[in-house]
Amino acid sequence: MEANKKEGRYSRIFRQLEDLMQTADYPLSRMATIAAVLHHKMDYFFWTGFYLLVDGELMVHAYQGPVACMHLEKGKGVCWSGVERKQPVVVPDVEQFPGHIACDSRSQSEIVVPVRKQNGEIVGVLDIDSSQKSSFDEVDEKWLEKIVNMIYA
Ligand code: SME
Repeated sequence: MEANKKEGRYSRIFRQLEDLMQTADYPLSRMATIAAVLHHKMDYFFWTGFYLLVDGELMVHAYQGPVACMHLEKGKGVCWSGVERKQPVVVPDVEQFPGHIACDSRSQSEIVVPVRKQNGEIVGVLDIDSSQKSSFDEVDEKWLEKIVNMIYA
């Protein structure tokens, strides 16, 4: 998507989510709402959802898109990289990412953004896949970080 169009789309989504977040402060409900809004407003999002740490494991939670892995092998793949690096991970071509976990062979590029509580503790990640290569860039990273920061605000 062209950069200006992407900015405009994210800023409208952000305003919509700000209003929606006023209606409930339960984090899992907020995550479900964020996944639904992003997935249906961003046409290049093929899979949109959250993997959260449960007893030290990354388990799938609210998502939109094709059925995905329930559990991600520890220390492997893009989601675990986001948790370990404590920062967003942008993967232009999943085939070039060592250890990438393919829940669906149609996924071609991916972005992972850590989700933090207010005290900075990472509770999991927002994970988005695209069925095309090189879909994500610094514009996605900037807006998705702002969006995940709404969860525990
Ligand atoms: N590709 C991810 C696994 C989750 S799916 O993309 C939905 C990974 O490598 O961690």
